[in-house]
Amino acid sequence: MKVLVLGSGGREHALVWKLAQSPQVTRLWCAPGNAGTQGEPLATGGLVENVAIAADNFPALLEFARSEKPDLTVVGPDGPLALGVVDTFQAAGFVIWGPNQRAAQFEASKAFSQDFMERHGIPTARSGTFDDPAAAKRFCAELGGRCAVKADGLALGKGVLLTENLAAAEQAVDEIMVQKTFGTAGSRIVIQELLTGMEISLHALCDGRTALLFPTAQDHKRALDGDEGLNTGGMGTYSPAPFLSDAELAEVGRQILEPWLAGCAADGIDFRGLLYPGVMLTANGPRVLEFNARFGDPETQVYLTRLENDLAELLLASAQGRLSETQLRWKPEASVCVVLASGGYPGSFPKGFPIHGISQADALPGVKVFHAGTAARDGKIVTSGGRVLGVTALGSTLREAHDRAYAAARTICFEGIHYRQDIAAKGLR
Ligand code: AMP
Ligand code: GLY
Repeated sequence: MKVLVLGSGGREHALVWKLAQSPQVTRLWCAPGNAGTQGEPLATGGLVENVAIAADNFPALLEFARSEKPDLTVVGPDGPLALGVVDTFQAAGFVIWGPNQRAAQFEASKAFSQDFMERHGIPTARSGTFDDPAAAKRFCAELGGRCAVKADGLALGKGVLLTENLAAAEQAVDEIMVQKTFGTAGSRIVIQELLTGMEISLHALCDGRTALLFPTAQDHKRALDGDEGLNTGGMGTYSPAPFLSDAELAEVGRQILEPWLAGCAADGIDFRGLLYPGVMLTANGPRVLEFNARFGDPETQVYLTRLENDLAELLLASAQGRLSETQLRWKPEASVCVVLASGGYPGSFPKGFPIHGISQADALPGVKVFHAGTAARDGKIVTSGGRVLGVTALGSTLREAHDRAYAAARTICFEGIHYRQDIAAKGLR
């Protein structure tokens, strides 16, 4: 099977690494990929090849597909999904994994998701959707100013402002709707009540009718230890997150996925891809904060190091509506991913610094270093993004996985490096 992966981050390196282990995958490309995807060895011999085409350059991607004829194309990031890459490839006769443009609205529009959840009885926060700042502010007042104010559209995970009083909530409405800090994504906003509890990531692989729930994982979205500082794309993850027993996870999954599948059927939405609900475990039960329509980054790094199934087979079954015959199998080990970031991230940061120590880290027991923002320059690996590497380790316990990931992280250096020291701390407490 020839496979093309779209994207260039840590998630895509993890997807490529796992796909490369499939006995069925004979050729594997990543467009555009990073310094880690390039040359990743295939189990069938040969190496992964980067293709210098951006993941949203549909004409160039199609031209590549027409000449190389991949049997499966796998979409990593949300941007191309929202722009309809799946519809475009399907119209040209290619098999592609990911939700079509209509189904991708679960992530591309928070107003769409919120309306869907309310109509189909999916547990979520009390909320309102607004096109008008004055009405939005009246709703903030009803909530006592304790709000999550969200731009409707895609904003790289940054379009959410959390407020604890009315003045801050009104200011957040102005920032998003009037000053347009997140651009046109903020022409419409969703305001939710501010919930408290433990936040977890859920993932489910879907084929339109069946949804296979993954184990739990927990992300660390803030830049600094103790969940301080700015929101980021994610500074580290671990799996499993020990806040739910297997039975409780199944029950949470049932409360969310059963009405979601029924709602998709009722609304004629054919979702073939990965549904990633962000969930708050509140005193009153689970509440969905948002849906994403793709693998989490860096959740993918911990999930795929634990997954035992052949990923190529799974994604093909998802794309072709054959998941009801499939069972997911997971290693019992825990996995921890620590993201090493550029100085300044999530704000602006310089690039191009040489990275040292990756191969030493990779050689440690249980460790795999996934590249995110890296590039090859004159035979050296240099920084080229905000999140640079995802140092990931398996261990027989969460403690062991944690200790291995941090031991590996400490062998790596580049100018300005920073990373959180408390990844998995909540799970270890
Ligand atoms: P989202 O992009 O909607 O997941 O929001 C980003 C982050 O904001 C989430 O990961 C939560 O940590 C936080 N958040 C979002 N909605 C709420 C809410 N209703 N109550 C409390 N925190 C929230
Ligand atoms: N881990 C956060 C995200 O992928 O959105």
